[in-house]
Amino acid sequence: MPESYEEFRSWSPRQRSGILRGPDGRLRALLYAQQFDRALLEQLVALAERIRSAEPEGAFRAALSRALRGRAAALYFQQPSTRTFVSFSLAAQGIGMVTEEIRSPERASLVKGETTLDTLLTLAELSDCVILRHDDPEAIERFAWEIHDRGLPTRLVNAGSGADQHPTQALLDIATLISRFDLSRTDPPLTVGIVGDLRRARTARSLSYLLALYPTVRQVFIAPPDLAMGRDLVTALEERGVTLVETTEFDAVIEELDAVYLTRMQDEYGETSETVRALFGNYRLSSERAARLRPHACVLHPLPRREELPIELDRDPRTRHWEAVHRGRFLRMALLLHMFGKDTTDLS
Ligand code: NCD
Repeated sequence: MPESYEEFRSWSPRQRSGILRGPDGRLRALLYAQQFDRALLEQLVALAERIRSAEPEGAFRAALSRALRGRAAALYFQQPSTRTFVSFSLAAQGIGMVTEEIRSPERASLVKGETTLDTLLTLAELSDCVILRHDDPEAIERFAWEIHDRGLPTRLVNAGSGADQHPTQALLDIATLISRFDLSRTDPPLTVGIVGDLRRARTARSLSYLLALYPTVRQVFIAPPDLAMGRDLVTALEERGVTLVETTEFDAVIEELDAVYLTRMQDEYGETSETVRALFGNYRLSSERAARLRPHACVLHPLPRREELPIELDRDPRTRHWEAVHRGRFLRMALLLHMFGKDTTDLS
């Protein structure tokens, strides 16, 4: 067991994941995608699908709506959000939780000089689960450590940690892929292209880690040189034996791809030169490119989109980004149920 936050920080994600689980082995704090194994991932995907397809008036939905009655979720979103915030909030309410939120930190006690950590500890004392989006990836690490060190029962979920990770977005993206393809197939292996600002797109990083749970999946990183995927992730994937291709040429690989995951330029994370901005125009799914994409391909985007995924393509049946949005609520319900030990078949 680490003795201090500094020691905790120095541990690898794999080492750290032990203390982010409860004594029953369930996730208590979800910080990054490497905390999932395939069994848990597939269990959550199956439960989400069961919830999604349940009759709205049926007994299962009724049991769900009571599953976490008496529990409270506090959502602290220091960065903007539409889908993640609304789907987490509705997910928590849909399984019986009450929710409270801080979305404008300028109206919280932070302006009186309170630290982010004290604000978060307040939420930990008042609620059963904190759902956190913050531009500093260290905020959630530090908070997770404090929850552990103080022996608090509060659950914690990462809803976006700076340019680092967004594990629940990756969950709904991979669930959409699982609904379309056999990710373990080998002949030929599934090829997934991840495109755009890979250096700073936290959703792309988390998705790549989840895809690595299926080592036969070929991952093709397509980005301008200055926005290439972080070396930390590339090294971690190579160590796991994942087949990885890196290219700057979208057109050179488009016909090989079974799935395409597009991302927008993440220009809130520091300067982006005019040269890079100009180059970024080459990483969009133009209609010419869409015409070259395989007939069975699947196109995803975490949204919000800019010009990389033109709205005209929403009518193309290969684009599944809106379906992924729809899945978000159910995946987040499944995750919360798991964290509170309420994912058993009868939900009792
Ligand atoms: C993403 C995010 O916040 O990282 N949005 C989301 O949660 N679906 C993607 C983005 O902002 O580009």
